[in-house]
Amino acid sequence: MIREIKTLKDPVLRKTAHKIEKVTPELRKLIEDLFETMHAHNGVGLAAPQVGISKRLFVVEVEAHPEIPGSGVRYALINPEITQFSPEREVGQEGCLSIPGWRGDVERATRVVVRGMDGEGKRIKLEVEGYVARAMQHELDHLDGVLFIDKLIAPDRIWRVNESEDEETV
Ligand code: NI
Repeated sequence: MIREIKTLKDPVLRKTAHKIEKVTPELRKLIEDLFETMHAHNGVGLAAPQVGISKRLFVVEVEAHPEIPGSGVRYALINPEITQFSPEREVGQEGCLSIPGWRGDVERATRVVVRGMDGEGKRIKLEVEGYVARAMQHELDHLDGVLFIDKLIAPDRIWRVNESEDEETV
C-alpha cells in the first residue's frame, strides 16, 4: 500500500521516534509499505516518520547499477544506531521526499557502522560506504526529528530542482 508522505509542515517530522519493541505483522506490513511508497516516488530511502508513523524504522535501497532495476540491496533497519563514523567526510547533495523539489549540500561521514535489527527482528551489523552510508545517516536523522535542511554546509547551499532531476531522494 502506498502511504501518504508527510511534508515539512507536519510536526511528526520533528519528533523523536519511538523504539520498536517487537516485530509484529503490522510492522512487517509497514516495512513493505515503506518500500512500495519509496519506489512510487523514485526514492532510495524512507523513514517511518515520513509516512506519519513515529517509530524507529527506515528502509534504504540503492541500485548497484542504476540501469538494472532490482540490482540494489534492500535494507530495512529497526532501532538502528550508528556506532562508528569514519573520520573521512565528504560533501554531497541530498534531497528528501518530505521536502520535494529541493536539494542541498550536506557533509557526512563516508563510511559508517550501523547496528540494529533487520525486518525479521534479527540483530545485524552493517558496514556501509558511499551513497548508502549517506542515505543511512540521512534516514537516521529522520528518527530524531532532524532534516537535511538543518545540516546544510552553508545557508545558501540549497537549490530547487524540477521533477525530472529530483532523483536519489531520501
Ligand atoms: Ni528524507
